[in-house]
Amino acid sequence: MTKKVLVSGIQASGRLHFGNYFGAMKQNVALTESGEYESFVFIADYHALTTLKDRDSLSKATSEIVASYMACGLDTKKVALFKQSDVPQHTELATIFNNVVTVPYLMRAHAFKDHEAKNKEVNVGLFDYPVLMAADILMYQADIVPVGSDQKQHVEYARDIAGFYNRAWGVDYFKLPKEYILKDVATVPGIDGQKMSKSKGNVIPLFEDEEELKKAVMGIVTDSSTPDDKKNPDENIIYNIHKLFLDDSQNSELRNKFENGGYSYKEAKDDLLKTIIDWRKGKKDIYDGLINNPEKIKEILKEGGEKAKKKATETMHDVRLQTGLDF
Ligand code: TYM
Repeated sequence: MTKKVLVSGIQASGRLHFGNYFGAMKQNVALTESGEYESFVFIADYHALTTLKDRDSLSKATSEIVASYMACGLDTKKVALFKQSDVPQHTELATIFNNVVTVPYLMRAHAFKDHEAKNKEVNVGLFDYPVLMAADILMYQADIVPVGSDQKQHVEYARDIAGFYNRAWGVDYFKLPKEYILKDVATVPGIDGQKMSKSKGNVIPLFEDEEELKKAVMGIVTDSSTPDDKKNPDENIIYNIHKLFLDDSQNSELRNKFENGGYSYKEAKDDLLKTIIDWRKGKKDIYDGLINNPEKIKEILKEGGEKAKKKATETMHDVRLQTGLDF
């Protein structure tokens, strides 16, 4: 039986955080492990260029994503873990899609509108971001795309673009992908209660040194309740982050602590820090070992790139045939 296809990417543009982990990485590891999917997990380094113009930062972010995924249990035997720019067919497919996508359609994209609203300069790469992302997804005929809710519109765009292409060339070729978003982690809050996001500087980093981790956890915004006050866990940022790490019984224990009173914010932060340090046990050593071994990271990416390129070459062969570019 042919397996369903999973495609998921992370932009190589900064420190990875628990929003990335709970929103997408954890699902990518679990679904890959299930054996039910052919998985393509990649580092969106072309996309990162829309904001990043710094050689060292790009390679640092790339290594960090590989090392983090390996530390979180992604098994390279069961997945193609690769760098987008190692499969330049993504840009070729995006170039073709650009001819079935209109300017007003791209002007409705959230990222474009946000930049416009802030009067920020929009480069063509950013404007065309959704088209390249559609190419990333459709290249592998994805069935599901595990992401956080901030990427929902992008997956909708990929679905639309599959339809635009199929209709333009009168084929039934590209499959319509679906976003895979888990309700409880669709938007993981940051230390200020807003969506955790690299660009907002409100993140709890996955694998940075303990000092950095501690600084982030201690920086979680709290209100003026006293230690004795009873606290509503659902409105509490510390709780809303901490619960993501817990099973049902640990979760109800934690809720009780908040609800009963006598649980200070200092204690709540110390407990969260301890939970995160426990979560990192075993993983952080794998991460550190890889981060200090760039040759190994390159080897992993080379192997993944070859697997991805095989499928991408097949897709582009079909596309060239359908469009007449094969002449
Ligand atoms: P990026 O790099 O911003 O984020 C990577 C993944 O992490 C998820 N995420 C979150 N989920 C829940 N709560 C949060 N606070 C949170 N912050 C980040 C994102 O939703 C994403 O799933 N455009 C993409 C990268 C990309 C891609 C693709 C993804 C390029 N091509 C093809 C899937 C398929 C991005 O910038 O994600």
